[in-house]
Amino acid sequence: MIHLKSKSEIELMRKSGVVVARTIRQCYEAIVPGKTTTRHLDDLAARLIAEAGGVPSFLNYRGYAANTCISVNDVVIHGMPNDIPIVEGDIVDIDIGVCLNGWHADSAWTFAVGTVSPEAQRLLNISKEALFQGIAQAKLGNRIGDIASTVQKYAEKHGYGVVKELVGHGIGRKLHEEPTNVPNYGKAGKGEVLREGMTICIEPMINQGTAKIVTMPDKWTIKTADGKLSAHFEHTIAITRDGPDLLTLE
Ligand code: MF3
Ligand code: CO
Repeated sequence: MIHLKSKSEIELMRKSGVVVARTIRQCYEAIVPGKTTTRHLDDLAARLIAEAGGVPSFLNYRGYAANTCISVNDVVIHGMPNDIPIVEGDIVDIDIGVCLNGWHADSAWTFAVGTVSPEAQRLLNISKEALFQGIAQAKLGNRIGDIASTVQKYAEKHGYGVVKELVGHGIGRKLHEEPTNVPNYGKAGKGEVLREGMTICIEPMINQGTAKIVTMPDKWTIKTADGKLSAHFEHTIAITRDGPDLLTLE
């Protein structure tokens, strides 16, 4: 069953969302190219979330053993923190979920570290725009398929591969709840009707080359099958009478 949130519940989720957005930004700002590791950022995120009175949503989720997912270059999603320094020219997806007062919010942003190649910058620009084109479809009476098909068409029009195996999701008292499947591909006019008070994460994963992915032996880290770059942008949004309400902003 889809839990429709009241206005006051949405405001509680926004409080979690503010912590998510702030933590992502502070992690990005902490990157010293050639020096900072993703493990350092994971520790920093843990500290910032705890100081805000929250709990990292991903820690221990289905056995996940870190606070964040940080995915560099050809890592699509679920990058586990490691001891490799981030360097100039990398693109880094910082994906963070926070539970505050029992309510979750979840967001991800892919950043350029210093100056990146024009191809990498274009991937970031188009992937971010794909998310916002999808969000613009998140209005009353539309369906999940309207979001999904818009994201897919926009990304594919620019020659990119849309990851199909991983999808967005409903969110609230749980990190993942109904609707459990908010894909980034599909047909307009299909799927669940969007209703007032629905809260969902839209999170396109867009590949520079093939849409195909491979899972690493750690069973979490997912990379592009061709070793090319991948970008990931995610916001938690509420469906309201006034249109999509972005909850993961500072
Ligand atoms: N943003 C991702 C998601 O919503 C991150 C989940 S990582 C996990 O699925 F470790 F919690 F699974
Ligand atoms: Co998510």
